Amino acid sequence: MGKRSRHIESVTEVVPVLDAGQVAPVEAAIAEHRMRPGALLPILHAVQDALGHVPEGAVAPIAAALNMTRADVHGVLSFYHHFRSAPPGRHVLQLCRAEACQSMGARGLESHARTRLGLSATAHHTDDGQFTVEPVYCLGNCALSPAMLLDGQLHGRITPARFDALVHACAHGVEHAA
Ligand code: FES
Repeated sequence: MGKRSRHIESVTEVVPVLDAGQVAPVEAAIAEHRMRPGALLPILHAVQDALGHVPEGAVAPIAAALNMTRADVHGVLSFYHHFRSAPPGRHVLQLCRAEACQSMGARGLESHARTRLGLSATAHHTDDGQFTVEPVYCLGNCALSPAMLLDGQLHGRITPARFDALVHACAHGVEHAA
């Protein structure tokens, strides 16, 4: 009776890697902030500022640089709504959901925005790649609630009509007044 050979299947985890164009910005963010106390958040912000999102492939090099586990980095990424895991649309709309804006109709505004852009209650990106809609929690503009950021520009006292005008102007490349 011949010897039975035992095959041990090894399960190797696939760790996502960065695209070629993402390596330099991620390395630059790590190099700039790694020695700071609490370096993780500044690094994640710098990566998102540079790439528009924090790619999955950035997690491993950031964790290694900070002597953390990838789970630690994932935990922080998923805790903060600010960080995106996928590239945003051409225009980013951030609608405030915090208390003052809620009291001035933020929920109704968000529902209007979703209808206007053809987004379901959970979708973040329009099919044409034009708009990304995200929640934010207080923009420091409570006196002019409800508030939103459109491509980083702050707007207050947003009514459905103002929203439509801003989105229309944005989609057609017209400067929009705050
Ligand atoms: S609660 Fe919306 S800006 Fe402060």
